[in-house]
Amino acid sequence: MKTHRIAVIAGDGVGPEVVEQGLRVMRAAGERFGFAVAATEYPFGTAHWLETEEIFPDAAFEEVKTADAILLGAIGDPRAPIGLLERGIIGRLRWDLDLFVNLRPIKLLDARFCPLKGKGPEHVDMLVVRENTEDAYVQKPSFEAQGTENEVASQAMLYTRKGTERIVRYAFEAARTRRRKHLTLVDKANAVRAQDLYTRVFAEVAKEYPDVSTGHLYVDAACMRMLEAPESLDVIVTTNLFGDIITDLGAMLQGGMGVAASANLHPGQRGLFESVHGSFPQAAGKNVANPVATIAAVQMMLVWLKEAEAAAAVEAAIAQTLTRRMTSLAVGAHRTDEIGDMLLDELAAVPV
Ligand code: IPM
Ligand code: MN
Repeated sequence: MKTHRIAVIAGDGVGPEVVEQGLRVMRAAGERFGFAVAATEYPFGTAHWLETEEIFPDAAFEEVKTADAILLGAIGDPRAPIGLLERGIIGRLRWDLDLFVNLRPIKLLDARFCPLKGKGPEHVDMLVVRENTEDAYVQKPSFEAQGTENEVASQAMLYTRKGTERIVRYAFEAARTRRRKHLTLVDKANAVRAQDLYTRVFAEVAKEYPDVSTGHLYVDAACMRMLEAPESLDVIVTTNLFGDIITDLGAMLQGGMGVAASANLHPGQRGLFESVHGSFPQAAGKNVANPVATIAAVQMMLVWLKEAEAAAAVEAAIAQTLTRRMTSLAVGAHRTDEIGDMLLDELAAVPV
């Protein structure tokens, strides 16, 4: 029997609770579809940092690198300085493992969960391909004359041709696998002229994909379009910071942060899977966070691990749970472990 070695960083806030449900579903899928899960849990996060001052020691980082996949709960806690652990754990994994693709599907499964009037599953089915290793995220901030009335703070937005080309190409390939085969570039090249690199690279790469139709939206107009006519969008490719912002908006279209999942990939080499939501520290330990986002991340992990049947079954179980069993996606409408139970029931009921 095949064993998948998973490095698990449950992290802060509700991370451990939602990861527990994700692993339950993963193990159940393994029992049903014939693979074993060897999960190694790492304690990193704010509590560990408060106790030991360790963020993510090199030895552990080297070990995590060798796993078949990484599952991350959430990082972020008001007891730590802003950004220290987010950048030291999530950021380090994304940047040092060169996980340049951040895939964020936005798929509405039930009209009840969409805040837009008159929109249903036939209108909301997008895939955001977010660049994950460049942009303002990886540039050093500068604070000149800090604390004085003349203070100047800056942090550059930086894009390389190689970094731009590989994400644009990945997005064209992804668009090719979809029914509509439509790819929209989202940028702000009219104001941030450095993003002219995206404009040019997108036009060049498009020539190699005559079967994919293309479009372009400035990020402000893209926000408007996502609300006004989400059905006009299929695959979106965008820069790191804009991708971060528009995928929270996208999460709301599919039912909120409780259901949105993401895959951070270096195709062919490494994958890290996580919810789009943060650590939700106010809800920690209360058994009220929705684990569906993490379970959907596990579903993406199964695709990555080439467990196609198991992935399809978990996808079906998520759809059944959301459409038939969950009365509401409001926090606390169902308990975290209760939703895990529903998922396991539905998984067992998926016909082979
Ligand atoms: C996300 C998160 C991170 C990001 C934070 C925690 C640094 O918001 O994965 O979307 O901005 O990328
Ligand atoms: Mn975000």
